[in-house]
Amino acid sequence: MEQTLSIIKPDAVAKGVIGKILDRFESNGLKIAAMKKVQLSRQDAEAFYAVHAARPFFNDLVDFMVSGPVVVSVLEGENAVLKNRDLMGATNPKEAAAGTIRADFAENIDANAVHGSDSLENAKNEIAFFFSGREIS
Ligand code: CMP
Repeated sequence: MEQTLSIIKPDAVAKGVIGKILDRFESNGLKIAAMKKVQLSRQDAEAFYAVHAARPFFNDLVDFMVSGPVVVSVLEGENAVLKNRDLMGATNPKEAAAGTIRADFAENIDANAVHGSDSLENAKNEIAFFFSGREIS
């Protein structure tokens, strides 16, 4: 059993597809072990994406992530990290396979509907960024 962090980004929340995206997780064997809707501050977004701080897209990424509320959840299941990434599809929705969340709901590489942890180690850090132990069950 693994846990991974998912963020439904401001574009998908604004579009009203929170439920449709959560259904992809639950229908594919990922249990929602914790969830909340939050408005990130600039400081939150900069800290969460600190690994990308030197990248040219960093400011646009932070601007976008604070542009509206997001839904953050802990997904749990067998191979949860990889399974979530498969369900999301490629970072750039133009390259995402048919039937993936990004192919179906994302606009472009910035407004790409969802974030998911890319390794088990990052998942642990990203989960701890948003949730305390008692919020996860
Ligand atoms: P995410 O999985 O949330 O991780 C970092 C985000 O940066 C990524 O999704 C994209 O939304 C955004 N981004 C913008 N441009 C790029 C790029 N060239 N390469 C990777 N990520 C990018």
